[in-house]
Amino acid sequence: MTQSFVLQRTVPTSSRLVFGCMGLGGSWDAQPIGDQERRHAAAAVEAALEIGITLFDHADIYTLGKAEQVFGELLKQDPGLRERLLLQSKCGIRFADGSGPKRYDLSQDYILASVDGILQRLGTEYLDVLLLHRPDPLMEAEEIAEAWLKLKASGKVRQLGVSNMHSGQMALLQQTLPDPLVANQLEMSLLKHDWIENGTCFNDDQGKGSRVWSDTLQYCQQHGVQLQAWGALARGWYSGAAPQDAPAAVHATAALVQQLAAQHQVAAESLLLAWLLRHPAGIQPVIGTAHPGRIRACADALKVVLSREEWYQLYVSARGQELP
Ligand SMILES: NC(=O)c1ccc[n+]([C@@H]2O[C@H](COP(=O)([O-])OP(=O)(O)OC[C@H]3O[C@@H](n4cnc5c(N)ncnc54)[C@H](OP(=O)(O)O)[C@@H]3O)[C@@H](O)[C@H]2O)c1
Repeated sequence: MTQSFVLQRTVPTSSRLVFGCMGLGGSWDAQPIGDQERRHAAAAVEAALEIGITLFDHADIYTLGKAEQVFGELLKQDPGLRERLLLQSKCGIRFADGSGPKRYDLSQDYILASVDGILQRLGTEYLDVLLLHRPDPLMEAEEIAEAWLKLKASGKVRQLGVSNMHSGQMALLQQTLPDPLVANQLEMSLLKHDWIENGTCFNDDQGKGSRVWSDTLQYCQQHGVQLQAWGALARGWYSGAAPQDAPAAVHATAALVQQLAAQHQVAAESLLLAWLLRHPAGIQPVIGTAHPGRIRACADALKVVLSREEWYQLYVSARGQELP
């Protein structure tokens, strides 16, 4: 299996694993950041750096801006840190407010204003990667291209990507963009395996593949777009945190993960990530745990190369029935 991945071409210092910062900053409300949240964020970032992670994934909405804010405080305390890591953030989701319901907004004005807010909270002059968080039904490719040209010219953003978009939406945007979209961040894990189902079982009546996926995986592979997997650890469902009432296949798969992890002499978290890494698309898993012990448990993911048989054993166990 090749250990190379697509983002290395445009962002050479990116690590294969990405640290997801959604769990930093405390609660999703107006409660100010306290010392406990500061210590929590510092310990998580320290553990992530320790296992070699250089790319940190944010979004303007995470804990209502507090994730970026607390991260910005860490950058300020250690002036050399910004240049040792890469910052990615996202914009385009708006929560309900006085002017409307929860909605998606990829208008030029909103993108530009969001980026200014992100840079201000992080206390940095530039983002290495900006992702458009979700497709906005009202998005217009020309307007997005204009916003991108301004962000690029001002030096505020170095690379542009998307999240939760399918191939048709990406192709539409790419038509007017002067630069390639570098990444698409999607929910991909052993638990959320539509991305494989769709291509494997498309001609099967029982196939569970989501139509949303269509040929998105292949589009990204063909066009050199980095696939990033959010939810990569499946919220711990296969590594000790499955709810009692989870489907039988989840409990059986968690036991299988433990067994294979023991055989490979790694933690369950590393084994789970190795399953994503084994796919030839060169996926970048985004880990969302902020618990230092669980972050360190991901450290050996790149050392494990699952055999075809092990990979399929996990996939078939997770889907809960044999392949057609
Ligand atoms: N693009 C998008 O639309 C989108 C959507 C969601 C997330 N994301 C990004 O992807 C990252 C990861 O996504 P995620 O947070 O949904 O996924 P995840 O890594 O699968 O789940 C992490 C969450 O599960 C909890 N958890 C409890 N027990 C766990 C265990 N044994 N192992 C691992 N986690 C356990 C973690 O809490 P502890 O911190 O206590 O471990 C954390 O809240 C986010 O941080 C964010 O950067 C992107």
